[in-house]
Amino acid sequence: MNLTPGKGGTSNFTDADFVRAIRHGVKPDGHGIFIMPADDYHNLSEADLGAVIAYLRTVPAVDNETPPPQLGPLGRVLWLAGALPSFAAERIDHTAPFPTAPAAGVTAEYGGYLVSVSCQGCHGPGLSGGLIPGAPPDAPPARNLTPSGELVGWSEADFITAVTTGKTPDGGQLNEWMSYKTFSGLTDDELKALWAYLKTVPAKEAGTR
Ligand code: HEC
Repeated sequence: MNLTPGKGGTSNFTDADFVRAIRHGVKPDGHGIFIMPADDYHNLSEADLGAVIAYLRTVPAVDNETPPPQLGPLGRVLWLAGALPSFAAERIDHTAPFPTAPAAGVTAEYGGYLVSVSCQGCHGPGLSGGLIPGAPPDAPPARNLTPSGELVGWSEADFITAVTTGKTPDGGQLNEWMSYKTFSGLTDDELKALWAYLKTVPAKEAGTR
């Protein structure tokens, strides 16, 4: 959907509508939002979510009435079978209070907060990877980020290169399902905090979520 205040966008959104959409995955009309990764954004602190909404209020209006997303035939079959968990709203504990964000810094604690708002939706709560909830069946599984995955042999620099460019130390290139283009905007301190946190997570067998 168009997130600007232009035609087809958010000009009628109140702050409460933004909170419902981003934190709960629910549209102003009460319907669930398809594929929107609100599972992660549910973990944003109140101040950080407020900053996101304040930013969205500053972007220039662009008119773009987007059609509702369509599922291909296989996607529809999986969806009807309940095998495609496409609505974050169905998984979220809507009664949970806002989490408190730790102070920003190069600490494992702050890295853990960043992981909760930007990595767990795809890599799973335990970061062991596996199929991405709501992704089409041909999307690659997210990889195991715990010490039983490949990261155990990586340096901090290898990790930062992979997360910001998709290039892995073995010369591989990660698929764009891994959001490295977005993460190239993270600061050095944020990337170091992520790495510090990953060093503290317990090993988990790949794909056990
Ligand atoms: C939209 C889903 C998505 C999100 C969000 C996401 N990842 Fe990924 N990630 C993937 C997928 C899919 C792969 C595997 C891509 C491939 O196989 O080419 C991957 C691979 C990786 C790898 C490579 C691991 C290896 O063994 O080669 C690292 C490192 C990584 N992700 C870190 C992160 C971190 C840190 C975050 C949060 C800041 C994050 N990812 C958020 C989907 C995601």
